[in-house]
Amino acid sequence: MSGIKIRGTGRFAPAKIVTNDDLAKIVDTSDEWITTRTGIQTRHHCTTETHTDMCVGAARQALENAGISPEDIGACVGATFSSDYLSPSAACMVQRGLGLPHDAVCFDLNAACSGFLFAIHTMECLLAQAPRKYGLVLGAEILSRVMDFGDRSTCVLFGDGAGAALVEWGANYPSLHAVLGCRGNSEVLYVPGVNTAAPPHVHMDGQSVFRFAVEAVPRCAREVLDRAGLTPEDIDLFVFHQANQRIIDFAVKKLGIDPARCPGNIERTGNTSAASVPLLLDELVGGGAITSGQKALCVGFGGGLTWAGALLELA
Ligand code: UT7
Repeated sequence: MSGIKIRGTGRFAPAKIVTNDDLAKIVDTSDEWITTRTGIQTRHHCTTETHTDMCVGAARQALENAGISPEDIGACVGATFSSDYLSPSAACMVQRGLGLPHDAVCFDLNAACSGFLFAIHTMECLLAQAPRKYGLVLGAEILSRVMDFGDRSTCVLFGDGAGAALVEWGANYPSLHAVLGCRGNSEVLYVPGVNTAAPPHVHMDGQSVFRFAVEAVPRCAREVLDRAGLTPEDIDLFVFHQANQRIIDFAVKKLGIDPARCPGNIERTGNTSAASVPLLLDELVGGGAITSGQKALCVGFGGGLTWAGALLELA
């Protein structure tokens, strides 16, 4: 069996921190409502930083932490729907910023909040054919640019950031046992594109997405475990998309796992969509919560509607 392992991770968080009280000055909300309904206390917003700055910063850190040179990269896949340019892709901007080889396969994909896990599975397939065995996988979003700051039901939820993973392909490495899915729906969660007259803001029917998420997260986690022939006890940590602490709590309960094995950072990041899983992964790797040989079962869900799960192992 061939597959990939994580050799290093990185992240970039914009300098500006926005508190719930800051948002209460511009919309009719409160720290109490946001904290109890979502678990979010602060989030980062870009000011002078660009999407490209975040991607290059996170990717550079992942390379450094892995001890791998840019010339060893065979592919770079970015997951995002809020990059600086519709074209070139964020991955192409990272190719330029870090001087990745010209034959490295660089492109973006859009699977919204599930994007990083779609991208890492895509990388697992790509590296089997790539010119070199190392790949960069990015999740990055500037959601503060696609927010309607007059809509209290969405603008308090989202934040900006980028996370990266440097992965290594190996003929004897384990499969990610990825489970990916989508159910096309442009009603409950969508961002209008350039071909529509509507402004490019996040529109969300929060309750419908909540109901979808509390079913999708535990189902997806169980499907990954089944494919891998494992039980929850075989997993070191569960890393779930940071959208709402209440969704995570539901999933933990349904799976019957100890909440201590499902750490989070939503109180400091808000929902960063495709950046959410890699940002948290980097915090956990940097803090020593996941070490060499350990397994993290990651699950994402969101716009599309999409869902994705994968078993990531640290080299
Ligand atoms: O990553 C992408 C996937 N997205 C998600 O996972 C989001 C999933 N959904 C959620 O997390 C939750 O549905 C929300 C956090 C978005 C909303 O929480 P809720 O408990 O479902 O609240 P609600 O939409 O049922 O609204 C309850 C009340 C309403 O007022 P009334 O009608 O009861 O008077 C809202 O108008 O809360 C009001 N409300 C707010 N009040 C203060 C909505 N947003 C706010 C706000 N501050 N920011």
